Amino acid sequence: MSAHAQCIPALRFGWLTNLYDPLIRWTTRELAIKGRLLEQAGIRGGHRVLDVGCGTATLALLAKRRCPSATVVGLDGDARILALARAKIARSAGGVVLTQALSYELPYAAVSFDRVLSSLVFHHLTRESKGKTLREIFRVLRPGGELHLADWGRAQNVPMRLAFVAIQLLDGFATTADNVRGLLPAMMAEAGFAQVEETARYATIVGTLCLYRARKPG
Ligand SMILES: C[S@@+](CC[C@H](N)C(=O)[O-])C[C@H]1O[C@@H](n2cnc3c(N)ncnc32)[C@H](O)[C@@H]1O
Repeated sequence: MSAHAQCIPALRFGWLTNLYDPLIRWTTRELAIKGRLLEQAGIRGGHRVLDVGCGTATLALLAKRRCPSATVVGLDGDARILALARAKIARSAGGVVLTQALSYELPYAAVSFDRVLSSLVFHHLTRESKGKTLREIFRVLRPGGELHLADWGRAQNVPMRLAFVAIQLLDGFATTADNVRGLLPAMMAEAGFAQVEETARYATIVGTLCLYRARKPG
């Protein structure tokens, strides 16, 4: 099957992809949350940084802007969203490299990145793909390298849980169930990561968004 066939588009239906940026900015407090994720990632000059499921490259571009001497690579399985990302990178200072590939078959050598970022991707993945993706991220990170991940997590309260039904109706109940149950940290630990922690939680109009940090031992 092609990479595209294995990858659920950002808003489930390909024809909605052009609406992704305005919708996500409006519903998720996007710039605050992505800014916080980059703050905790502590990207430094010379770092090699991979954004898994980069979508329209908002996070990858913010990373590059924060640290122009880092190498920033964005990977996504969907050619349509990568076309939007390419146009956005061309409109800005550029400098982000894009690759079309799947999160659980990363086309990179082992031990080749200092930081891996991923935002709003894991709730698109089946349980098996989440595990495979985490093992692939672990493989490509250098010892001591870090994963910084943002995604929907266990709701802080009943209104947040109810709000998240809107996302589940769009993205599906099966792939979002692990997020709702707060299982992402345990899955990271199972893939070999140490010092796994939830670093922040945000209430948004469509549910609870959590930030996580995890370190490859070494
Ligand atoms: C909701 S969007 C998030 C985009 C971006 N990271 C952000 O925070 O705005 C999810 C992205 O993950 C990509 N994606 C989903 N499953 C994937 C997979 N198995 N491999 C690579 N990309 C995948 C989709 O194409 C989409 O661009």
